[in-house]
This record gives sequence, C-alpha cells and structure tokens, in this order.
Amino acid sequence: MAKNRILSGMQPTSQLHLGNYLGALKNWVNFQEKDDFERLFCVVDLHAITVDYNPAQLAQATREIAAAYMASGIDPKKSSLFVQSHVPEHSQLMWLLATMAQMGKLERMTQFKDKAGKNKERAGLGLFAYPVLMAADILVYNATHVPVGEDQKQHLELTRDLAATFNTRYDVELFVQPEPVIAGPAPRVMSLRDGTQKMSKSADSDMTRINLTDDADTIAKKIKKAKTDADPLPETLDGLEGRAEALNLVTLYAALSDMSKEDVLKQHAGQQFGAFKPALTEVAVAHLAPITSRMNELLSDPAQIDNALRDGAEHARSIASKTLAEAQKTMGFFV
Ligand code: TRP
Repeated sequence: MAKNRILSGMQPTSQLHLGNYLGALKNWVNFQEKDDFERLFCVVDLHAITVDYNPAQLAQATREIAAAYMASGIDPKKSSLFVQSHVPEHSQLMWLLATMAQMGKLERMTQFKDKAGKNKERAGLGLFAYPVLMAADILVYNATHVPVGEDQKQHLELTRDLAATFNTRYDVELFVQPEPVIAGPAPRVMSLRDGTQKMSKSADSDMTRINLTDDADTIAKKIKKAKTDADPLPETLDGLEGRAEALNLVTLYAALSDMSKEDVLKQHAGQQFGAFKPALTEVAVAHLAPITSRMNELLSDPAQIDNALRDGAEHARSIASKTLAEAQKTMGFFV
C-alpha cells in the first residue's frame, strides 16, 4: 500500500497568530511523530498574489512563514519545507486541471464570494482559480491527508471532485482522493474581543489576536483586556454554554498546556477571570517565548531557512515532476 503523505500550506500574507499556531502548525508537528507519513509543508506564495499584496515584502514574508514553521517544531530533516513557486509543477498541473474545473462550481466557492465581495466583475482570474491551484498543490503529490481549517473544507471537496473527474475522463487511477484533516488542539481559536469571530490576521484591531512575534508584555496586556463575563469558571464544560469568550480562554489554556478542557476546569473551577487570566498569560508566555526567540534567531541568519527551503523544493520536485509527466502522458501530450 502507498505510504500516507500529508501536505499543507499557509499564505505569506502577514504575521502568524495563535490561531494559526494552535489550529494548524501544532497539528502539523504532531504528524512528525507518525512514521508512516511522508510530510510536505509549503509556503503558498502563488496564492498570496491573488489579492492585493506588497511585492517589496513578499520574499521576506515567505521566509518568515518558513521560520515560523521551523520555530514551531517542523524539522526539515523529518519534513520537506518549500516555497510553492519554487516547484513550477504546481502551476503546470493547475492548467491541466483548469480545463476540467467547472465555472459553476468555482462560482459557488464561499471564499471566492467573500474575497471578491461586491466587485465580482473586477475580481482577477487568479482569485477565481485559487481553488484549482490548491487542488494542484495537493494532487501533484497525491497527498492522502491535508490538514486544513474548517473554511477550507469546500476547497478540499473540489480537489476530490477534480481528482475523480480526471480519473474518470481518462480512465486511469492517477489521482488519489485526499482526506481533509480538521484537527489541532484548538481548531477554532476565536478573537479575544468577540468569542463569535475567528481570531484573524485581517481583523482591524491587533488586540483581537496574539501574534507569534508578540513579547511577554504584549501577551499579558492582550489577555488582560480580553473580553469575558462576570461569572466564575464552572466545574464542567456545560457550564460554558453561551459563554463564547470564557470557552475560548479555557480552550486556549488547554491547548497551550496540553491538557483537556475538562481538566482545566477541574483545576480552575470557581475562579474569577481576574485570577484565571494571569494563569493563562503564564502558560501562553511559557509556550510562545521559545518559539518567538527561535524565529528571531532563524531570521537573523536566514541561511538555515533558505537551505531547508532549497532542499525541500528539490525533494518536492522529484515527486511533482513524476505526477505531472504522468498526467501529461495520460492527456495525450507529445512528451
Ligand atoms: N487555501 C489554504 C488556506 O488559506 C492554503 C493552501 C493553499 C493550502 N494550498 C494548499 C492548504 C494546499 C492545504 C493544502 O488556508
């Protein structure tokens, strides 16, 4: 049986926050302990240019995301780290898949609708085709498992659909159906100011999120100002129902200290937030400080990052070029 292969990626659009870390990176790192998995993690720079971006910052932002991967525990000896645009096979396969991607289906993608907004007529083709490139990212490696956030499930569905369409149309078994892995210690980290909104890099106020580059004082200030309610912490999870902000802080505490939410409540039941918040600050700082300092260390001498990315791309290309050649042959190209 083919080995399991896991692939995921993040966009170099801006600073990473706790939601990215607990919802994705920490989960990726867990896969490193699994021997029967080959791991590929990329920085998806080609996706980042589908919206307004700053060309003067793209390369550095790409490096920073790679630094965050490494600082979070992704080990280039155990996983291939690379930049999406360094493996041209992604774009090449995308074109082949684009011929099979139905406009109607792409129009139903909620992320496209959100990002295009009212100005759909002016949206670029790249934004519209974004999910097809993502499908190519995955299928060019025949990844079996793809850790993604809830909001990417629809894109994964489209990827599965394209794999099936290709296989059926050309009567081959070239592409495998990738499974989404929606997990992580805290798959949905919410805003510190509104427990019904996801923690997001696009939220206007920086007080809504904890960035991976925040220092201890900043983290303390943000947690202190986080929205809560006036009730003490309950003994069981049911007691957090209807208390979105309280639940979020308990979830963060649990994920950062590798405990279950139930155990966190057992330990802190009856506490007011005036007491719980400093405890949360302590685990957050203890967990994040080494990551932040490792990230800064890597970025101050980026040769290590750049070497890992070069080796990663070379390995990735060795897989991707075979799949692409197979797809081209199947489609009847003069190869
Ligand atoms: N669209 C994904 C996101 O915004 C990023 C992404 C691009 C991705 N290509 C991918 C994730 C391939 C997993 C696999 O989160």
